[in-house]
Amino acid sequence: MGYYIGVDLGTSSLKLMLVDPMGGILKTTSRSYDVKYPRSGWSEQSPEDWWSAFLDGADELLDGFDSSLIKAIGVGGQMHGLVALDENDRVLRPAILWNDGRTFKEVEYLNCEIGKDKLSGNTANIAFAGFTAPKILWMKKNEPELFVKIKKIMLPKDYLNYKLTGSFATDLSDASGMLLLDVKNRCWSKEMIDICGITEDMLPKLYESYEVIGTVKDSVSSKLGIKSDVIVVAGAGDNAAAAVGTGTVGNGKCNISLGTSGTVFISADEFSVDTNNALHSFCHSDGRYHLMGCILSAASCNKWLCENVFKTKDIGAEIANIKEEMLGNNEVYFLPYLMGERSPVNDTDARGVFIGMTPATTREEMLLAVIEGVTFAIRDNLEVARSLGLEITTSKLCGGGARSELWQKILANALGLTLELPSTEEGPGYGGAILAMVGAGEYGSVKEAASELAEVRGTVCPTSDLTEKYEKKYKIYKQIYPALKCVFKNMRSI
Ligand code: XUL
Repeated sequence: MGYYIGVDLGTSSLKLMLVDPMGGILKTTSRSYDVKYPRSGWSEQSPEDWWSAFLDGADELLDGFDSSLIKAIGVGGQMHGLVALDENDRVLRPAILWNDGRTFKEVEYLNCEIGKDKLSGNTANIAFAGFTAPKILWMKKNEPELFVKIKKIMLPKDYLNYKLTGSFATDLSDASGMLLLDVKNRCWSKEMIDICGITEDMLPKLYESYEVIGTVKDSVSSKLGIKSDVIVVAGAGDNAAAAVGTGTVGNGKCNISLGTSGTVFISADEFSVDTNNALHSFCHSDGRYHLMGCILSAASCNKWLCENVFKTKDIGAEIANIKEEMLGNNEVYFLPYLMGERSPVNDTDARGVFIGMTPATTREEMLLAVIEGVTFAIRDNLEVARSLGLEITTSKLCGGGARSELWQKILANALGLTLELPSTEEGPGYGGAILAMVGAGEYGSVKEAASELAEVRGTVCPTSDLTEKYEKKYKIYKQIYPALKCVFKNMRSI
C-alpha cells in the first residue's frame, strides 16, 4: 500500500495532489505561472517554469508527510505544446502552446496541399493550428537555425516526466494531438514524420498512459525525500486524464471540462472518425479511444473580462451579482473566440465579439453573455457529436468553471443535459493519480480504478422553461460567426 502524487500541468498553473491508497485526496498545492502572448494569436510558456513549479509545489505538498511512503507519480498535462530540446537537452525556445494560432499557413498547407484525406487516413485527424506538426513546420520555416538543432520533440507533461526520470517517453492520448500518430494503430505515422522533415528518433517512445516509464532520478529522490524506486507512469493529455478522474471511461460516456479551454470528451470502446474531422479522434488513456471537441477560450473568457476589463480578480463576486431571473433573458451575446477557434470552426482569424448592446447594458449582462457564449460554443461541439448519431443525455463536468452553480444551471439548460458533478473538479490531477495507482498495480485496469474511485456528489437537471429560452438564444448565437467570418479574414490582412 502506497501513496500517490497526481499532477495537472495546466496553462495557468501546475496543481499537485497527494492521494492515499483508497483514493482519498489528502492535500493539494498549486503554483501559477505566466502565459506570454508575444503577438496577437501567439501563446508561449517556459518549460523551465513548469519544472520549478513542480519542485516547489511538491515541496509544499510533502511538507509534514512521510515522503518515503510515496509509491508512484502520474501527470496529466496541457496538450499539443511543442517542446524542442537540443543535443544537450537544453530547451531551444519557449514552448508553443495548444492555443497558439501562428501556424495558419502551415495548417493551410497541410489541409489543402497535403490534403485532409491523406492526413485523416494517416492520423484520423486534420490539421488545427494548435496541433504539434504545424508548429514543427513553422519552426522549420521561421527559425531554421533552431530547427536544425532539434534532437528531441516532446509534449509539456513529457518534459516534466523527462526531468523526473530521464526517460524520453510519451503516452498515446497526448501523442494523438501531435498529428504525427497513427491513432487507429497506436504507432507513429512514418508518412507524417517525413512530411514534417523530422526523424522517428526525435520522437519519444510510445506507452499506454498507465504504463511505467521509469523511476525517479537520484537527484529528484534526494530533493523531494522520496524513495529512488518511486515509479512514474506515462500519464496522459489533460483531457484524457480528466476523463479518468471523473469516471469517463467506457463506451459513450461524456465529460465536459471548463478550464482555460473547454472540451467535450466522449469515450469510445472502438476507433471511429468524425466524417468532417471537426471532432478530434484520439486514443484514450484506458487503452481505448475517444472523440473530442475543444474550444480555445472557456473559463479564460470570464477571467479576461473580470481582470482586464472590469479590473477585479474576484470573479465569484461578479458572478454572484447575476440574478436568477436574468437567465435566458439576456439580450447581449458574446462570441468567445479570444484566441481564434479550434472546434468545430477551425479558424485562427476569429476573435471575441460582443453584440446586442444598448445604452442600458449592464456589467452583469456582459458577464452573463460571456458565460452563455462559452456555453453555446461548447454546444456547437455537442451538436457535431449528436449529428454523428451519438446519444448524449448525461455528462460529467469538471474544471474551474464547473464550480459555479450559475454556470452549471446555464450549461444543463443550454445543452439539454443532466450534469453529474464529480467529487473533485480537479479532473486531470486526480486522473494522473489514478493512472499512477494502476501503474503501481493497485488496480488491474483504468476502467476498474475509475469506476471505483470517481464519485458523483450531485446532479443538475435541465428544466423545460429555461431549456426553451436557451434553445431560442442558441439559434440567434449560431448566426453570429457565419455573419462575421469574412470580417475576421479581412482584419488579418490589414
Ligand atoms: C485539447 C486542448 C486543450 C489543452 C488545454 O485538445 O488543446 O484542452 O489540452 O490544456
